[in-house]
Amino acid sequence: MSLRRATLRRRGLVIGLSAIGFAILIFLGSLFQAALTVGEAMAQSSVRPPANAVTNAPSAPGEARVRDAVAPLEGAPTAPWEILGPNSDSTLWGEVRQGSVFSVTIPDQNAATLVQSYGIAWQNTRSMRGPLRTYGTMSLFGIVALLFVFYLFRGRIRIEHGFSGTLIERFKPVERCGHWLLAGSFILLALTGLNLLYGRDLLIPLFGKETFAAITQGGKWVHNNVAWAFMLGLVMIFVMWVAHNLPSKTDLKWIAQGGGLFTEGVHPPARKFNAGQKLIFWAVILLGASVSLSGVSLLFPYELPVFATTFAILNSLGAEAVWGAPLATDLSPLVEMQYAQIWHTMVALAMIVVIVAHIYIGTLGMEGAFDAMGSGMVDRNWAEEHHGLWVEEQDAKAGASDASGTAAPAE
Ligand code: HEM
Repeated sequence: MSLRRATLRRRGLVIGLSAIGFAILIFLGSLFQAALTVGEAMAQSSVRPPANAVTNAPSAPGEARVRDAVAPLEGAPTAPWEILGPNSDSTLWGEVRQGSVFSVTIPDQNAATLVQSYGIAWQNTRSMRGPLRTYGTMSLFGIVALLFVFYLFRGRIRIEHGFSGTLIERFKPVERCGHWLLAGSFILLALTGLNLLYGRDLLIPLFGKETFAAITQGGKWVHNNVAWAFMLGLVMIFVMWVAHNLPSKTDLKWIAQGGGLFTEGVHPPARKFNAGQKLIFWAVILLGASVSLSGVSLLFPYELPVFATTFAILNSLGAEAVWGAPLATDLSPLVEMQYAQIWHTMVALAMIVVIVAHIYIGTLGMEGAFDAMGSGMVDRNWAEEHHGLWVEEQDAKAGASDASGTAAPAE
């Protein structure tokens, strides 16, 4: 079979497998979600709040409540307009407004907080002029501007010795399947996630409220379900590539020469992955794990709080010295959710910035790079210039088994 046909077949196989993987995961995700929704509805229908559920609700204006049984201080004023003190309606509603937690006898303890006042702080954090969106926008425009300037000065990094016409297999189908599962799901998650953060202000003026609502409802479904494909892709690439991404002395040489990215004709030695790619790999793994954990915590509200435990661990590692005070570990379920949402967005934005740079170098930025993930075969000159030590290893392996095993002339 000709090499081209074999390559096309392999490409078809990878795309087919990825598509099937996606479909299965989306199906499983929706099943899971549907099961939970039904479970939740059944649980709620079997719980009825008792008539006196909110024990401290005011019974009638001006009347005493259970929590008002506050003994007046000795020598306190007794004039009718002063005596109410902590028992007055304004004091009570002031407390409600400040987010005081009262007591309820229904299972949902969140109902004991009538007005969730720190929700305002949370809302301000993600509002149009809040820090999340301000720094998020700056980072996204920042990375695009940086890449643009880099492109203006360096242009496309060409294969210095031109195409040799000989191809080497760089990534096996299973590796590309894992990569595209991760990449495809990440792009969907990034687009639907950015819509949740910016869509209201950007899309409503363009498409109107109804269309935006439909887009966002569909986007939320995609976001919740495709997350499982992302996690699977993350585990796949971790298992397949972790051994190639452990730091080594060669990385120091690569870094010292700026990876040859800034100077034409400079090609520092590298094995399968160079130091820059190792940084990308670990950023994807660590940020990806964190965005997944906070995402799962958001997907199952109040079921998987993660911040109190994380803060307790950080405190035990000496967070106080950095922060100036121990991190709070008595977080209410609502505050847990707010922290999870803010952290999830921050980590996702950081990851998008890293991935925009990665996509640039894998497509426009470097001649011959895309083939590695497209067909899996790269030109030998490209491989020698960017991953010289890896080519030597491949040659040694091929020589040990069969000299013609890995390298084949291109058609
Ligand atoms: C259109 C989008 C993307 C393109 C064109 C692309 C392209 C590539 C290419 C060509 C390589 C192999 C480089 C080599 O042969 O040395 C690669 C590797 C890799 N990709 Fe992507 N990629 C994309 C999206 C993503 C996304 C979204 C993620 C993670 C969320 C990701 C994670 C990785 C990792 C961890 C590696 C190995 C380390 C590295 O080469 O930087 N990629 N990608």
